[in-house]
Amino acid sequence: MKILFFSAKPYDRTFFDLHNERYGFELEYLETHLGPHIAEAAQGQTVVCVFVNDKVNAEVITVLAEKGVKIIALRCAGFNNVDLEAAREKGIRVCRVPEYSPQAVAEHTVAMLLTLNRKTHKAYNRVREQNFSLNGLMGFNLHGKTVGVIGTGKIGAAFCRIMKGFGCKVIAYDIAINAALQELGVEYQDLNTVLSNSDIISLHCPLNEHTHHLIRAETLQKMKKGVMLINTSRGGLINTPDVIDALKNKHVDYFGIDVYEQEEKLFFKDLSEHIIDDDTIQRLMSFPNVLVTAHQGFFTDEALSEIAQVTLASIDALAKGTEPANKSAILV
Ligand code: NAI
Repeated sequence: MKILFFSAKPYDRTFFDLHNERYGFELEYLETHLGPHIAEAAQGQTVVCVFVNDKVNAEVITVLAEKGVKIIALRCAGFNNVDLEAAREKGIRVCRVPEYSPQAVAEHTVAMLLTLNRKTHKAYNRVREQNFSLNGLMGFNLHGKTVGVIGTGKIGAAFCRIMKGFGCKVIAYDIAINAALQELGVEYQDLNTVLSNSDIISLHCPLNEHTHHLIRAETLQKMKKGVMLINTSRGGLINTPDVIDALKNKHVDYFGIDVYEQEEKLFFKDLSEHIIDDDTIQRLMSFPNVLVTAHQGFFTDEALSEIAQVTLASIDALAKGTEPANKSAILV
């Protein structure tokens, strides 16, 4: 059976080729992302395997169905880029990797938090140029600070546990309470209270119609002056121009993002020789107190191995007409 990969990178090949030894599927890798411009390439394929920025809307799904595609396999957890209703109508099964390594993303969130706070990225460059001055590198103790976590699912919970280890007070907002976290001392509060009481706010809820632009002028105003805001979830949770205003007037003092609403034109590509036609990200990157990473929260050896293994196992089960062991891997 053939599987056509979109947005494939060298590391995808490494891990999928390795785990495919067990299945013997015919794997074809395309570097381009999936969208209306390339959906025709799925001619004769049974399975397409996509990633976070592939556009799998109704238009694309119609073409995939015409070309004979029976399974869309997402090699990621989030699925806001796929029109599940359109897939259901066309009789296409859709699977994802619900949990590959929540620790990977939680740990990257902590890396961003520590970098913004202790400015290790600046210290690294300074020392290499024999500048051993500490001016401008002052941080603050995390111990005793209040960390607000929005979304305490798998990643949010892993992040809460790490921050408890730092000696922080952890408060959280979620539409569903996690009793195990409460036992650890995480306090659930309403969204406005979490926004107004936190020194550091980290977003870990999914992007959907309720959470789109959750962070905007109105919610930014509720935050403490000098707050640190981190988003490793999905770019659409934040109205970026509103955060730029809050950075300019120093209401937000630190801003770290691993995801960006318009990231599909930028992330996972080497654009070092190009003129970037996105003034918002360029403005963001001009602030000394902003850290942008290009959607690398998931990017650990353990996570990539798990992604390849779970994706191929789900495809194998669906192709055989059975269901994968992990029910939450199936979206349609
Ligand atoms: P999860 O499904 O385990 O947890 C999401 C949590 O958000 C749940 O507890 C849910 O109740 C809560 N939630 C849903 N709607 C909410 C709302 N309106 N307000 C507050 N909370 C709400 O998901 P998981 O695995 O923890 O992933 C979280 C997000 O992280 C994903 O949706 C994905 O977008 C992102 N992600 C980012 C990665 C990266 O590389 N940066 C990698 C993997 C996931």
